[in-house]
Order: sequence, then C-alpha cells, then structure tokens
Amino acid sequence: MTAKPKVWVSRPLFPDVLARLAEHFDVDAEAVEHRHSADELKRKLAGVDGAVVGLADRIDAAVLEGNTRLKVVANLGVGYNNLDLDALTRAGIVASNTPDVLNESVADYAWALMLAAARRVSAAERWLRAGQWPGSNMRFDDWLGLPVHGRTLGILGMGRIGQGIARRAAGFDMRVLYHNRSRLPEMVERECQATLVSKSELLRQVDYLVLVLPFTPENRHAIGAPELAQMKPSAVLVNIARGGIVDDAALALALREGKLAAAGLDVFEGEPMVHPDLLTLDNAVLSPHIASASEETRRAMANLAADNVIAALGFGEAAGKPPTALNPAVLIRGSAHKA
Ligand code: GLV
Repeated sequence: MTAKPKVWVSRPLFPDVLARLAEHFDVDAEAVEHRHSADELKRKLAGVDGAVVGLADRIDAAVLEGNTRLKVVANLGVGYNNLDLDALTRAGIVASNTPDVLNESVADYAWALMLAAARRVSAAERWLRAGQWPGSNMRFDDWLGLPVHGRTLGILGMGRIGQGIARRAAGFDMRVLYHNRSRLPEMVERECQATLVSKSELLRQVDYLVLVLPFTPENRHAIGAPELAQMKPSAVLVNIARGGIVDDAALALALREGKLAAAGLDVFEGEPMVHPDLLTLDNAVLSPHIASASEETRRAMANLAADNVIAALGFGEAAGKPPTALNPAVLIRGSAHKA
C-alpha cells in the first residue's frame, strides 16, 4: 500500500473538517494557535504535499525555496495578500482562497461596525461596565450618536461583499454610492440601488464609507491624510478589508482632531498590533479581524479550503479541479502533480 500524501494544517480547525482531510491524507494539524516564523513555515512545508494556512502565514519565495514536494496551499480567507502568488505559480504549486462563502457574514459585520460606531455602542458599554451610570445624572442629551437611516452610504471596492452591504442599505432608506475599478453591470447596480462615482466624489459626499478593497501595493494607504481631509467631519469610516489600506496613524489623528466623527475597524496595519492612538480613542470601535466569524461561515471556509486540497491532490469528485484555485494555469500545465 502506498503511503497517504501528507497535509499540514497550520491552525486548529473544526474536527469534522480535519476528519474529511484524514480520509485521504496523513494530517498534521496544529493543536494550538501559533504565529509561525518563516523558518518554521519553510520546514513544515518542505515535508508535506499540501497545506491549509491562515492569513498570518506568509508564504513567499524564500519560504518555498528548494521545496520540491508541496503541490497545494489552501488559504483560509478570501484575501490572499499573505501569499506570493507569483512565487507559488513559478514553483508549480496550486494556491486557493475562500471566496463567496463569507460574503453575507462579512456584509452583516460591516453593518455591525457602522451602527456601533454611529451610535457609540462600545464607548457606552465601557462606561456602563465601569459602573458610571449610577450617580452620573445621565442627561437627556448625553450619548448622542449619528443617524444612519436616510444618510448616504459609500462603498469603496464593489465586489460581492460590497454588493451585499449595498443591498442591506435599502432597509435603512439610504442613498448608495460606490467606486470601483470597473462599473457594475446595470442589473447589479439596479439590485444594489447603487451609483458609480469617482473616488473623490465618494469621499466628499458620503456619511458612511465602507472599505472592501483587496490589499495590493497600489491600495496601500488608499485612505490616508489627503483622502480623510476630503471627507465630511461628520462621516464614519469602516474598514473590514485589510490593514494597510488605511493609514492608521492619519486616521487616529483625524478622529482625535474631530476631522472625522467615528470609525469601525476590524483590520489594522501591522495587526495583531494596533496603532496605540486608536486604542485611546472612544470614537473608534475596534475588533480583532472577525468579520467572517460566524459558525456557519467559518465552517464553510474551512470546508472549502479542504475541498481545494482534496481536489488538488487528485482525490474526491472534483479531483484535479480545485474549486477556487487562484492560479489554475498551474493545473493546466500539470505541474501541480510533481513526482
Ligand atoms: C478575511 O479577512 C479574509 O480575507 O477572508
């Protein structure tokens, strides 16, 4: 009997998903969360045929150097700026991500941050938990927040998640503007009741700006001091995309100086570290990169990553056709099936 291919899973994962992998593979799954160094990644990946990795695992040319065994890397996330796709493709390794299954959960979460930032939910809760309500003589005009209904929502990056955020805006009777590399088909624009505008129009007109861009070198600091200066001082910024798309230092300054009313942030430049100034601001609602974290969605993401590994290594109904490969050219060339 030939030995089963080996698969490394870099983070603890749902046991039933690991069991699916174990039907085909000899699985080495990390039992505790741990940030892997480049050396550790290199060593782990050298001894396996496939890997399921998290967003904190940076898979680049140096990590892949000399690796002649690895055939597939499945990323647990839709964003894949932690993968050097060119390096993976050059090495003949299939890479995959987890698109679509998280769209609705992430769209829900964008609204959670928008509403919480507008209505000061986190700051009010901190105040209550600190025991400050009794004896405070809280006034009728304390804790005033910003209205959401009837205002203008802007979406920068109008993929499926952005469209989900836009569709929800109808319930709040909002006007929706968007900016994107390309215009959406008319039918989709109609469904989302969204209008394409230039980036500077978007910045100037909206009351709520939600960022849903992929992180690319061009998108680094897409929202920095010059962009923040174009926004209304009463506006709210929500980043559920990636750290580094916003210049967090410039954002903290704008929030402190009242040049922007509030922010809801799920992602940070250099996370898990958070800019210290953001931590001191009551008008910033902060969460630890959890926009996709509903049970149903995280399971769907884990299963999709497993589907990709199983198919890329030649097993299951989709053998040879990983459903969400990012570099399918590797499969066409057949180089994913190294001896
Ligand atoms: C989360 O940030 C993801 O890219 O899935």
